[in-house]
Amino acid sequence: MEPDRKNRVCPAEHAGALDLNIRRLFHDPGKMLKPYIREGMTVLDLGCGPGFFTMEMARLAGKSGKVTAADLQEDMLKILRKKIDGAGLADTVRLHKCGSDGTGLSVENDFILVFYMLHEVPDQEAFLREIRTLLKRDGKALIVEPKFHVSKNDFVKVKDMIRRTGFEIIEEPGVFFSRAVVIKSA
Ligand SMILES: C[S@@+](CC[C@H](N)C(=O)[O-])C[C@H]1O[C@@H](n2cnc3c(N)ncnc32)[C@H](O)[C@@H]1O
Repeated sequence: MEPDRKNRVCPAEHAGALDLNIRRLFHDPGKMLKPYIREGMTVLDLGCGPGFFTMEMARLAGKSGKVTAADLQEDMLKILRKKIDGAGLADTVRLHKCGSDGTGLSVENDFILVFYMLHEVPDQEAFLREIRTLLKRDGKALIVEPKFHVSKNDFVKVKDMIRRTGFEIIEEPGVFFSRAVVIKSA
């Protein structure tokens, strides 16, 4: 039996902690995402939470780009909706509420960000297989997991699962407090 999902998903009441300005010192969205996102790209922030990374993804993809910010929790999306409207980005960023059995998305992306969310997903293997269908042939996904939730050994298992689900690991970038891989379809 799966553990209660409510115990695993970061609640929307913690959104403020994910959005603290001080986080920019060690998870600078511009610096982290610039190598992967260019003007005009179609990109997905999967498990976007309050959108700490979404706004920068929209800036990098530009007016000709398309950004989808997707999350399981409506309350996270509500927070992000306010930011997007305030920044005049409603035409660039589309918000999407995921189901608990799958994202419900079908558009293929040049880049997918999966930041601090994979460990919250009960069936990670099925989730990775779905990510594969959401990537263009040469698309890349950056998966980042927190060291305080995912041990070194756990992450070795995640990397095995990544390979098993049809990806190759092309980079292991250093991210503060984190374990990270960039992947593409093998
Ligand atoms: C710890 S937060 C990280 C948010 C954001 N990526 C960041 O780094 O600031 C994880 C987010 O993933 C979302 N999430 C968890 N499981 C999900 C799923 N199966 N599909 C979509 N979103 C999910 C949660 O609702 C939560 O907003």
